[in-house]
Amino acid sequence: MQPIALPIVEGKYNLKNYEEAYKTFDWSEVEKEFTWYETGKVNMAYEAIDKHCETHRKNKVALYYSDANRDEQYTFLDLKRLSNKFANILKELGIVKGDRVFIFMPRSPELYTAALGTIKTGAILGPLFEAFMREAVKDRLADSEAVAIVTTPELLARIPISELPTLKHIILVGDADENDQGHISYQDEMSRASDQFEIEWVDREDGLVLHYTSGSTGKPKGVLHVHNAMIQQYQTAKWVLDLQEEDVYWCTADPGWVTGTAAGMFGPWLNGASNVVRGGRFSPDDWYQTIEKFNVTIWYSAPTAFRMLMGAGDESVKKYNLSTLRHVLSVGEPLNPEVVHWGLRVFEKRIHDTWWMTETGAQTICNYPCMEIKPGSMGKPVPGIIAAIVDDEGNELPPNRMGNLAIKQGWPSMMRQIWNSPEKYDEYFQTKGWYVSGDSAFMDEDGYFWFQGRIDDVIMTAGERVGPFEIESKLIEHPAIAEAGVIGKPDAARGEIIKAFIALRNGYDATDDLLEEIRNFVKTGLAAHAAPREIEVKEKLPKTRSGKIMRRVLKAWELGLATGDLSTLED
Ligand code: PRX
Repeated sequence: MQPIALPIVEGKYNLKNYEEAYKTFDWSEVEKEFTWYETGKVNMAYEAIDKHCETHRKNKVALYYSDANRDEQYTFLDLKRLSNKFANILKELGIVKGDRVFIFMPRSPELYTAALGTIKTGAILGPLFEAFMREAVKDRLADSEAVAIVTTPELLARIPISELPTLKHIILVGDADENDQGHISYQDEMSRASDQFEIEWVDREDGLVLHYTSGSTGKPKGVLHVHNAMIQQYQTAKWVLDLQEEDVYWCTADPGWVTGTAAGMFGPWLNGASNVVRGGRFSPDDWYQTIEKFNVTIWYSAPTAFRMLMGAGDESVKKYNLSTLRHVLSVGEPLNPEVVHWGLRVFEKRIHDTWWMTETGAQTICNYPCMEIKPGSMGKPVPGIIAAIVDDEGNELPPNRMGNLAIKQGWPSMMRQIWNSPEKYDEYFQTKGWYVSGDSAFMDEDGYFWFQGRIDDVIMTAGERVGPFEIESKLIEHPAIAEAGVIGKPDAARGEIIKAFIALRNGYDATDDLLEEIRNFVKTGLAAHAAPREIEVKEKLPKTRSGKIMRRVLKAWELGLATGDLSTLED
């Protein structure tokens, strides 16, 4: 059954005719926007911030920041000067092009300043979500051989400095106490640093940002993006986000995830847009207030957040004036048609679904304001992107056949490396020039793509991508646990929740206290969002003859489905 398409809402959009653009557009049209066109060199921070200081945008607000205690705004010129200062601090420490500099702290103006300053030095930015705990932090810093980290005194204890031989510099944002002696004070250094800095001009293919993300096997992998990604980040911010001069844009994602950098910093600032950042945790009132307070016109969020807002009821929406909103978008998980219809009712706006991944570096399949929306569909490929549904051999499948969602290799913001792991990188590109995403989908006869599920065991919970392996590895470190297998269990609010199946060692009983202790063990060792919401104790877990836990069988148990072919089962 085809749902009813939502008609185009008339307006002056940057992308006027999708089909036409899809036929004619070529990425080389965008190249002229950036300095490399003239000098052969480039730097993302220059293109995003400094460049606008040579135009009418110099005193335009680039960043509106607010949280429970702060309410600040920064112009492009302010951000240019502040990031210059930070770049000088790094330079004095001896940071050079290609070094990995991590930022591990809650959203704040200092986070954005440090990120831009890092990029100005030519170093590679490693953003880490603040919720990560010791082990998760260690894995990422060790794998990337980070040399410096910007953090807060509160988070310092989660960085196992003595186990990280390459990590030489710790820059602390916030009031340090005597235990923090020996580290660098952000405030002190910023107050003396010069606000003039000679940018490190880099090549298009030089490293920009390293985002760690999860697969179904192994430790998290470092997805490297290069400065060249700006081509697609700039163009999709124009076409998909539809950013225009007067817009006030709010992307709710944290820079710890790709949405928070590509669509929360780079894309909007490359277009000279005013960007809103709200610190602190999610609450419906807070979010509606943010839209009202800053007169947000374009809002980019995630299905989980929309579902939570929906759950808070219509009464809470009605308290606020949200009439400035003109364009609403979603990313990260399937956007239920129900949510789209709710959006139509309460905001009187279509919510535009967009599909992409850490690895794609920018939006790839989207709904555009100038196009009809079919609720439940992710939309159509961005002009310049070739997407298809392919079988396991890389043959394109006809419409309405389910298969692998794939993108033709070579789009501008494509990841360029899995850090330290060329083999893992190659795994993505083994099918006839296609990047195989790990998602299954189909394309309908009108060219709209429909998400069906993950092919691998990656879990998407509340919009966050979690690898079962990382959680299983943590679980079996617990003395009571003999075996562990982790799956995503469908959940109406969160998309999926994390469910762990465990077998206990002899001598342990499955008491509520023990299960709670195990949950906390993951929470404090890895991250709160990685802790299993449900734990089920089994005598034994299903394993292959080579000893690999069969998550497929766990999932079938959970869903009450047939377990399929069990010929490879241990016994
Ligand atoms: O399964 C898809 C899901 O999120 C995965 C990528 O996760 P991550 O790298 O963390 O990036 C998320 C945001 C860019 C995809 O493989 N996903 C992302 N967008 C959608 C989606 N699933 C359904 N619909 C979407 N619009």
